[in-house]
Amino acid sequence: MDMPSLVFKGQSIFSRKERLPFLLQKNGVKSMECKALIDKLNAEKTLKKDEWIYLFENYTEDDRAYAAGIAQKLSIDKYGKRIFIRGIVEFSNICKNDCYYCGIRRSNSCAQRYRLNEEDIMDCCAEGYETGYRTFVLQSGEDGAWGAERLAKLVCQIKEKYPDCAVTLSVGELEYDEYKLLKQAGADRYLLRHETANREHYQKLHPGEMSFDHRMNCLRQLKELGFQTGAGIMVGSPFQTSECLADDMIFLGEFKPHMIGIGPFLPHKDTPFRDEPKGSYELTLFLLSLCRIMLPNVLLPATTALGTINPRGREEGVLAGANVIMPNLSPTAVRKKYMLYDNKICTEDSTADCRYCLQARMKSIGYEVSITRGDYSE
Ligand code: 5AD
Ligand code: FES
Repeated sequence: MDMPSLVFKGQSIFSRKERLPFLLQKNGVKSMECKALIDKLNAEKTLKKDEWIYLFENYTEDDRAYAAGIAQKLSIDKYGKRIFIRGIVEFSNICKNDCYYCGIRRSNSCAQRYRLNEEDIMDCCAEGYETGYRTFVLQSGEDGAWGAERLAKLVCQIKEKYPDCAVTLSVGELEYDEYKLLKQAGADRYLLRHETANREHYQKLHPGEMSFDHRMNCLRQLKELGFQTGAGIMVGSPFQTSECLADDMIFLGEFKPHMIGIGPFLPHKDTPFRDEPKGSYELTLFLLSLCRIMLPNVLLPATTALGTINPRGREEGVLAGANVIMPNLSPTAVRKKYMLYDNKICTEDSTADCRYCLQARMKSIGYEVSITRGDYSE
């Protein structure tokens, strides 16, 4: 079998000995080649699979800075020095799935399970609205007690009370009719990371009962139904190779999601991947830049995982082309229980703490927080 030859597993991504034949191999040339590939991506908005792989295996810090410069400029041209904020309400950590990487997987018997009700969630939104959020993201595990009908009623309630706000859902894989119901209820956006566009890799991250095709179909349906749709990956998830990342970039370039969520993989102590190394911070930043260059209008968050792996992650994410930050609106009492990975930031903080912390962080790099819905536009 033709196995992918490079497994990151915390190794340097520069360690691969084989090189692609069509490109020059001499020292110093590689960086030039990488910059040429970044320019080509900027001009043509696509690269070939071999070119993506070459880029991932040969880029230097200098190339990363080069990509970040182009990406940041594109982001400013489109959105200005304004960052959209989304308030996330993590309303249930009960999940029927058993993804090997995730701290709230059903087999994690150490997780203390909780489920907020309608009133709790409306309270979070009220606090969020007061502090300047105009997008509410409702996120949960795949919790059967919060079926599509119940959720649709809640979405109606939120949209009625806050007609000037967008509602984003992030509740996993559902059936077409359920997505349709949620759209009809007024939900504007939907986040469902594809996790990996490589089928074999997908199977190494998920138990056999989960299906790559089903997930990809969900994404297509969401887009077809008119949701602003978000896909995305974890960088450095176990078994990820440069080929997987090339597949991801090709998928993203073709699917053209409105939003892309990218953060480093971070191990969780009560999962099968507890001993796996975390993903690379620098590679995550590089991928953010490449996504911005490929899809200049995309809504691109500097994720909580990026802020967890590095204290300046969210600032540096913005400087690499991100234009969205998604702080937590969940009650502080449950924040520690929504632990997808170890050491997640902001679990001791309140809604107001995060709001003003972010404002200061953005100001420190010359950006301001935008109090608008922050919709996707072409
Ligand atoms: N490390 C980083 N990100 C994770 N996610 C889940 N578990 C982890 C982890 N251990 C991400 C997945 C999921 C999103 C909600 O959080 O990509 O889609
Ligand atoms: Fe939550 Fe800084 S954003 S404390």
